[in-house]
Amino acid sequence: MARKKIALVGAGNIGGTLALLAGLKQLGDVVMFDIVEGVPQGKSLDIAESAPIEGFDATVAGTNNYAAIKGADVVIVTAGIPRKPGMSRDDLLGINGKVVATVGKAIKKHCPKAFVIVITNPLDVMVWVMREESGLPASRVVGMAGVLDSARFRYFLAEAMGVSVEDVTAFVLGGHGDTMVPLVRYSTVAGIPLPDLVKKGWITQEKLDAIVQRTRDGGAEIVGLLKTGSAFYAPAAAAIQMAESYLLDKKRVLPCAAQLNGEYGVTGLYVGVPVIIGAGGVERVVEIDLNKAEKAMFDKSVSAVRGLIDEMRKIQRGVT
Ligand code: APR
Repeated sequence: MARKKIALVGAGNIGGTLALLAGLKQLGDVVMFDIVEGVPQGKSLDIAESAPIEGFDATVAGTNNYAAIKGADVVIVTAGIPRKPGMSRDDLLGINGKVVATVGKAIKKHCPKAFVIVITNPLDVMVWVMREESGLPASRVVGMAGVLDSARFRYFLAEAMGVSVEDVTAFVLGGHGDTMVPLVRYSTVAGIPLPDLVKKGWITQEKLDAIVQRTRDGGAEIVGLLKTGSAFYAPAAAAIQMAESYLLDKKRVLPCAAQLNGEYGVTGLYVGVPVIIGAGGVERVVEIDLNKAEKAMFDKSVSAVRGLIDEMRKIQRGVT
């Protein structure tokens, strides 16, 4: 059986890390595309040269030609630019919206059967643009945000309570960052819900609230430290977990930006919800009952996404 093919569109910080992880985990052959000449070629050659040491046989190739993504099983998209000082959200929406639209058209042409994971920000809108432009079914187009947010939440909780990160599970809904909805009552240590652990004195309510806030600000904390870029190791690890669940039909339950079709009372928008990812792509959206406070936070998140999509539509029509 031939190896699977993983196309990475964008060979920047996240793209390079994705290529290395895909090689180390032996997910398949890797093709890295970027508009900058030499960067995807140089990074892929560097990673290929690590293969004899790490012991993987996948090919890793760099390209500036979209034809090279032909027949990819998985495409992970990081192409775009980060927000720079003085830029409005509209500027970023406009620029990255155009980039993602171009990538979507290339996917439609060269690998219309792929499972597509979008990372480019602003995520919830970029994944919507990708779905529209690629014409792929919504079950094959997802956005990466929740796995990263919940990993940050899990890491901070494990550190605070002195337990293994593996034994902490976290449940998050909603958009990336500010509007993330951490569902504390569904987050656990070895199955014990966080509110019970507060009662038992494992962690104080104040500390828990501070961790929730730190998780929401997790991206900004890294940007503040790095100064010249944003997080890339954990975002890449998160997208690779999603790709692996698809390629190995693991049916992991992972929080992703998925298109809703009536679930949680929302239709047509991409929102962060737990989904099952298997060989069929997004095989199921996991729905739970929300209490009043959780519903209010979720609705706020949904209206933020809706607002950005309205702005994106205006930009696409040339209104602004
Ligand atoms: N087509 C393909 N690649 C492009 C295009 C385009 N039209 N425009 C820019 N790129 C490439 C850049 O050349 C760069 O190599 O996208 C890459 C982006 O890499 P970085 O700037 O290093 O950004 P990175 O940290 O990888 O993040 C990528 O993910 O988390 C989000 O906010 C983040 O939107 C950003 C994206």
